[in-house]
Amino acid sequence: MPDLLQSLLVLACALVVLTAWRRLHPRSFWPVAGYPLTAFSVRASWRKVALGCGLTKKRARWAFTLTPGALISTGTVKVRRRFRRIAVDTTPWMRFPLPTRHGWRVTVCLLEGQIPADYAEVAERLVHSWGVHAVRVSSPRPGRVVLAATIRDPLVRADQLPPSGELLTVTVGRLETGKPWVMDFRTVPHWLNAGATQSGKSNLANALLVGLAPQPVALVGVDLKGGVEFTPYTPRLSALATTRTEATGLLDDLVALMLERMGLCRTAGARNIWQLPPAVRPVPVVVLVDELAELYLMADKSEKDEIARTSTALLRVAQLGRAFGIYLFCCGQRIGSDLGPGVTALRAQCSGRICHRVNDPETATMTLGDLDPAALASARAIPSETPGVAIVASQDGQWYRARSFHVSEQAAEHAARMYADLAPSWAEITAHAPTTEFDPADLDELLTA
Ligand SMILES: Nc1ncnc2c1ncn2[C@@H]1O[C@H](COP(=O)(O)OP(=O)(O)O)[C@@H](O)[C@H]1O
Ligand SMILES: [Mg+2]
Repeated sequence: MPDLLQSLLVLACALVVLTAWRRLHPRSFWPVAGYPLTAFSVRASWRKVALGCGLTKKRARWAFTLTPGALISTGTVKVRRRFRRIAVDTTPWMRFPLPTRHGWRVTVCLLEGQIPADYAEVAERLVHSWGVHAVRVSSPRPGRVVLAATIRDPLVRADQLPPSGELLTVTVGRLETGKPWVMDFRTVPHWLNAGATQSGKSNLANALLVGLAPQPVALVGVDLKGGVEFTPYTPRLSALATTRTEATGLLDDLVALMLERMGLCRTAGARNIWQLPPAVRPVPVVVLVDELAELYLMADKSEKDEIARTSTALLRVAQLGRAFGIYLFCCGQRIGSDLGPGVTALRAQCSGRICHRVNDPETATMTLGDLDPAALASARAIPSETPGVAIVASQDGQWYRARSFHVSEQAAEHAARMYADLAPSWAEITAHAPTTEFDPADLDELLTA
């Protein structure tokens, strides 16, 4: 009896120590104690979990039995068979779970007739069975699925913006997987950034501004909400449009700039500005647009022509900007087709999509397009307590849950002032651009080139 008491005491002490360790230092607890315990229990309970989630298949097996219940009636005679065929539930083969930074991942071999979507469908069931934050399903090769479980939402905590990296590349936040969230304009030239108010759109624009400010690029702002967002960053901006007329002028300038750069590339026999020798390569321009809808909304009929003109110019920039070093980052609460056909066409040109918390499912669908329905569900489930969390999709077809680093307006303003001397003047950039109205024929040629 004292032995039993002693063992119970030791067990209780171990439990207390483990719980305290987990509380006080989860980082060291997870790889040393948490992961092995979890891995064994996941393996041990897999059969039950798979049965509960409907991931098993019935298969006929030979079975040997001596129990009296194994009498089989053939109708006329009763035979006592020791070997017989019975139906059993087979569980998909699971490898041993491997630790990840925020949880674990495990490879499962699909049973005949199963597809990865069968697993994606029951991801939420797995979440509850395993008591984790999320389960993501991917299929690295036919016949296998990888289930990646995250124990706690790694995006709850926001970190600091790291120092600026390569040209036109900014690490703006962190992905759910723990990897950096990198925006690279040379790979994905144009971005749509949607979200409700207070969802973290401007924060992401701030992060971009802080990341790009030390780089040799020209930054241009379009902010038709009276310039409240971008005016404080004027020292580092080469141009800022705060009214529709200014926006029209600015976009016309950009189109003219593209024409000039096209001529430059043509004479040098280059397909884009990156093929030009560094000495003559023009400076890349990143256009930050806040509240995209303002560009398309009409106060009265008289604005109709102006809106059509801005919309066409913006679309041209999106169509051709990539080759000529002009990149777009458009923020908006709504990016719906109700704003006009211009927005739909613009959306098609923006391969980078970011969807922060949204109020209506349509905005998520509009922003993320026909991505995996799980991405849309994930976008709608972003809680308001974690501004800056977004679903990010880019050209690789993958989507990620991510959170931008917190960059206050003060930090962005500070960066804008600190790197003010790196802002090329707009007059200089556009000095050689054709001043006459652009020729539609030229543009058509460009578009078909
Ligand atoms: N990644 C983040 N981490 C922490 N706080 C954030 C983050 N992104 C935004 N916030 C905070 O959320 C609030 C709203 O963000 P903001 O970017 O102004 O939203 P929006 O432009 O979509 O209205 C701000 O107070 C901001 O400080
Ligand atoms: Mg904002």
